[in-house]
Order: sequence, then C-alpha cells, then structure tokens
Amino acid sequence: MSGKAAARRTVLKGAALAGTAGLGVAACSTESKVGHAKTPTPTAPVDLGDAEAVPADGVKLYREERLVVSRSADGEYKAFSAQCTHAGCVLDKIEKDEGNCPCHGSRFDVRTGEVLKGPATVPLPKVPVRTTKDGKLIAGPDA
Ligand code: FES
Repeated sequence: MSGKAAARRTVLKGAALAGTAGLGVAACSTESKVGHAKTPTPTAPVDLGDAEAVPADGVKLYREERLVVSRSADGEYKAFSAQCTHAGCVLDKIEKDEGNCPCHGSRFDVRTGEVLKGPATVPLPKVPVRTTKDGKLIAGPDA
C-alpha cells in the first residue's frame, strides 16, 4: 500500500467519524428536546386530567405538556414549566423532588423551580394551576 492510499484512507475514516458524530448531535437535539417550544409556559389552559394523579406531598411530571406539578400534604398545587431554562430541553425524570434535564445535566427543585445544578442559571417559570369542581387539574393562563 502506498503512503498516499493510506493517507486517503485516514481522511475517509475521519470523515466517516465526523459524520457519525454529526448524527449523534442531531439525534440528541431532536430526541432530547421532545416538546421543545419557544414559549416555556402554556399560552392557553391545559387540562392535565385527574388532579388526584399528583400524589399528596408528591410531584408529577407531565412531559408531553412540558409541566411539572407538585401537591403539598395539605392539598395545595403548584406548577412550573418542565422546560429547562438552559437550552430548552424537557426534564426527563424526577428524583426526590429534583427534576433532571437530560441534555446537559441541570437539576431543578420542582417544588420551587429553583436551580440546584447548572449549567442552567434561571429558575423554572411558575405556571398558574387550579382544580375544577369535577376534580380536574388545569394549568396555564386563566387557571
Ligand atoms: S438544556 Fe437543560 S441543561 Fe442544557
């Protein structure tokens, strides 16, 4: 094998790796930003269904709706955007009241919206939430 052919093969191998890396980034940006939206909070009321789905003194992540709702022991509900304030990914899980962003590892106190770990520096925006007479949870404007 000539030195020229080996050098060419190295260049092609590098291009293939760069292509793979590029796909990885693209996959990350599309998969991890499910629900990514320009507005981090609802612009219209969102019906979250049965209010009892949020456990007493617990938290529930509504990933599709990009919301996280907590309920105190005495029944007070609070809602925050579940869209990370760093680059807009949606939180993927909650562990002990800490919401995790899958993109760069930010963590938030989902009962207060406070940033617990960066790179995010801005708290999760609060979202109005209320229960209806028939026991549904409504979040967003006019809630
Ligand atoms: S988008 Fe959440 S940490 Fe970067």
